Parts: sequence; C-alpha cells; structure tokens
Amino acid sequence: MTYGIICAMPEEFGILEKEIKNATTLSLYGRDFISGEIEGKNVVAVVSRIGKVAAAFTTAILIEKFKVDAVVFCGIAGGLGDNVKIGDIVIGEGCVQHDFYLADNDIFRIPLLNISNIPCDKVLSKKCLNATKSFCKSEKSAELCDFFKEIGVTAPAVHTGIIASGDQFISDSARKAWIKKKIENVKCVEMEGAAVAQACFEAGVPCAVIRVISDCADEGADVSFDKFVNASSLYSCAIIKELLK
Ligand code: ADE
Repeated sequence: MTYGIICAMPEEFGILEKEIKNATTLSLYGRDFISGEIEGKNVVAVVSRIGKVAAAFTTAILIEKFKVDAVVFCGIAGGLGDNVKIGDIVIGEGCVQHDFYLADNDIFRIPLLNISNIPCDKVLSKKCLNATKSFCKSEKSAELCDFFKEIGVTAPAVHTGIIASGDQFISDSARKAWIKKKIENVKCVEMEGAAVAQACFEAGVPCAVIRVISDCADEGADVSFDKFVNASSLYSCAIIKELLK
C-alpha cells in the first residue's frame, strides 16, 4: 500500500519532508516526487503547486507513474461554515468546483461525469477524521496551541462537510456569501481539493482532503493567510503521522 501525499505549496509541505525515511526524489515536470516511508508506510509526497490544473496534473502522475493506492491532500483553506474558525480542521466528505459554470440553472455540474459533488472516499476520510481527532487530543496539539496563541488560535475543532474549490483566492464577503448560499453544508474554500478528488474518482483511487483553516475568506483573508501559512505544516505533518501510525 502506497499513499500519495499532496500539498499545494512548499509552506504547507514544510517539515513533512523531514519525516520521510529512506527518501529518494524523482523530479518530473518541475515537481519533486519524494518516495520513502513515514511511520513505516510507503509514501510518495509532492508539492503540486497552486490551483486545480496543477493539482489534477500532479494527482494523475501519482496514480499513473507512482501507482499510489490512495491520495491524501493536506493544506490550508478559508473557513466558510458559521462555526468554522481559524485553526479548525475540515475533513472533506466531498468537493465542489465553485467556479464551474454551464448555465444559470446548471452550475457546478461536471458534464459527462454528471455530478457536482465529487465524493471523497468514506473509509479513508474516516481514518483521517480519527487521526485528526486523536491529534487534537494529544500533547502535540497542546504544544501547537501554545505556539498558535500568538496568532490568536485556540484549540482546534474538527468539522466534516463539503469543500469548495476554485481557481480564486476568496477574500470577499459577497463571494463568500454566494458560495455558502449555493453549496449546502460547505465548510471551507480552497483551490485544489476538487481537482484531486475528481482525478482520483475517475481513476478509482481513494482520496481524502484535510484542510486547516487559515482565514475566513473575507476582506481580512490575505493578512490571516500570511500569518498562518508557514505554521500550517505543523498540523498537516502531525495529522499525517497519526494517520500512518
Ligand atoms: N486557501 C486558504 N485560504 C483561502 C481562501 N480564502 N481562498 C482560497 N483558497 C484558500
């Protein structure tokens, strides 16, 4: 069993790289695919770069060239749910492309696939949820919380629900309200999850998406994102290690 692990940005990947034992790197199309072991499990970890095209392309390579059996995406997102706050963690039940538009009465639906909500794998997502919950209860999480107090982050809550993805950084209350209105049970917005989920769905490979909330997708989003992004890999790394234990 080999897990593909994807982050969109080097900042999100951060310290995860140091956790990979017996690492070998293959550079392909400007991306470093690092194969090795975390907690004794085979992994191929890679920074996809930002946006849906980059994420889908990277996922396809993980599946086709590296033959991964499952894909876990980790990164940060803007919070959308009413009770979703900065520092909380969202595990996707499914992902919707909020910028996919065919006609006013037919938004989000992906033609030929004929779905708008691309499902994440239930079993893998449940494992991610359990790993996240156990991380949140751990001393490691308490240490991180002390660290994050400086930027006003308190103990994380864990949410499950829909993740909205699009090729836009959302820092606009009106656009945020529109996404919330149109996508039922949406918890956060980001730029890759639906692309990874769709590539995996079409290839029949289980996929899970884990997002730590870095901002509230409103006019303060840029400032909050900048404060949080460098530290976000501490969360992702701890959750991935817990998942692979
Ligand atoms: N990733 C983190 N915050 C985001 C936001 N507000 N919009 C899109 N992607 C994000």
